[in-house]
Amino acid sequence: MADEGSRRGDGLAWQTSVWDRMSDVYLREIDERFRPVVENVIARAALNPGQQVLDLGTGTGSVALRAAPLVIPGGRVLCVDISAEMLKLAERRASEARLDNVTFREGGGEAIPAEDKSTDVLLASLSMMYVIDRSAAARECARILRPDGRFVASVWAGPDHCDIVRLQQTAARFAPPPPVPNVGPGALADPTSFLVQLDEAGIDARVETESTSFDFPDFASAWDTLAGVTAGQMTPEQREEARATVFATLWPEGDGPRRFVNLTQFIVGNKRR
Ligand SMILES: C[S@@+](CC[C@H](N)C(=O)[O-])C[C@H]1O[C@@H](n2cnc3c(N)ncnc32)[C@H](O)[C@@H]1O
Repeated sequence: MADEGSRRGDGLAWQTSVWDRMSDVYLREIDERFRPVVENVIARAALNPGQQVLDLGTGTGSVALRAAPLVIPGGRVLCVDISAEMLKLAERRASEARLDNVTFREGGGEAIPAEDKSTDVLLASLSMMYVIDRSAAARECARILRPDGRFVASVWAGPDHCDIVRLQQTAARFAPPPPVPNVGPGALADPTSFLVQLDEAGIDARVETESTSFDFPDFASAWDTLAGVTAGQMTPEQREEARATVFATLWPEGDGPRRFVNLTQFIVGNKRR
């Protein structure tokens, strides 16, 4: 048990360092490309004025910044993330947008820093697959949602249907294994067990899929933007091998612009009354 606890602690420290390191490139290169996913989350959230929203794994705050104006007057958005660097950028963006109904708290899905039944709508865009103890996270989501409260998460499909996961998993083959299993961009490609965990916690949910896409002008820009999620801790030799393999796999016809087509799963549900 102590071993399990310390492995999870190591896992969380590792996960936090990955996202702290990714924060600048995320704001510069990823936010705009993930906009279709964010819009799909917002559409499914069906927000109304006065609602209390929690954005779990807010990153640079894209979902929260879209949600905040939709719950005015009276509503608020609480942004939660394990990465202090991500939260700093999200906070800066909210202040630049002059949104005064958004607050920020460091924390994770396994112990969400919010009161019982405090939340009308819980949003988790592209973050649940990085949560180390998803069963605990499902219980936490149910704890903070009010009865009938809404749950919307987005997660990628597997590498055969989702180019971003294909790139990141191909790169990961050359990296040291993560300190914890079952986390990473494709970890919820099959969401069945997470749906069971949500159900056991008291949230009825189903999966809706959409194809979303974004473009890169060439291989180098895609590699520099996306590889850090799984390729951060490689030696220079591992990195070179990973780079060459990703290029051969995803650019078989040589360098040039490429559209990434990503099957995206939206886990949508409500807390049982
Ligand atoms: C791919 S980014 C998604 C950011 C944002 N939601 C978006 O859609 O652009 C994943 C985010 O999940 C956060 N994250 C990772 N593990 C987490 C956990 N256990 N609890 C909460 N957030 C976590 C990361 O720090 C990162 O900001």
